[in-house]
Amino acid sequence: MAGVLQGRRGLIMGVANERSIAWGIAQAAHREGADLAFTYVGETLEKRVRPLAESLGSDVVLPCDVQSDADIETTFATLGECWKQLDFLVHSVAFAARDELKGPFYRTSREGFHLALDVSVYSLVATTRAAVPLMGPGGSILTMTYLGAERTIPTTT
Ligand SMILES: NC(=O)c1ccc[n+]([C@@H]2O[C@H](COP(=O)([O-])OP(=O)(O)OC[C@H]3O[C@@H](n4cnc5c(N)ncnc54)[C@H](O)[C@@H]3O)[C@@H](O)[C@H]2O)c1
Repeated sequence: MAGVLQGRRGLIMGVANERSIAWGIAQAAHREGADLAFTYVGETLEKRVRPLAESLGSDVVLPCDVQSDADIETTFATLGECWKQLDFLVHSVAFAARDELKGPFYRTSREGFHLALDVSVYSLVATTRAAVPLMGPGGSILTMTYLGAERTIPTTT
């Protein structure tokens, strides 16, 4: 029986290694028949992401730092040259400076807060804007959230 994503094309943003949530999603999408492209940020991660992508038969592996509008534009322009249409985008990207994650939340600096929100949240807006022109009817965009808004999560520090 054909998988539910047979013939669909999806871009996976946010694989850092085989423990990334995005990697679990990529494997599931591949199992269901999707063709996948991947992005990575930085040369170190490229060395990890490229073999993972290749293990799923994907050779579209593109650099994209979501803090850069130029990077996002280039990524989706390149993707548009490889694929006529994008069916889904997986946004599984987040970052906070290590020091900002220590201690009580009210010690968070304004700068650290802005950086975390830019990479983790605004990037969904920016990547969606770039993805939509490649998407036909029925295209989907998936992002991650955290259940901290619904439940009390004890601190580990
Ligand atoms: N791990 C958890 O318990 C958990 C729980 C709920 C939600 N989430 C969310 O799931 C998503 C994925 O988290 P994860 O646990 O797989 O961690 P992860 O570190 O594997 O994934 C985060 C990804 O963001 C990428 N990234 C960071 N800065 C970037 C930038 N400037 N440009 C492009 N990419 C950048 C990293 O390269 C990495 O691939 C995040 O949005 C996270 O908030 C995680």
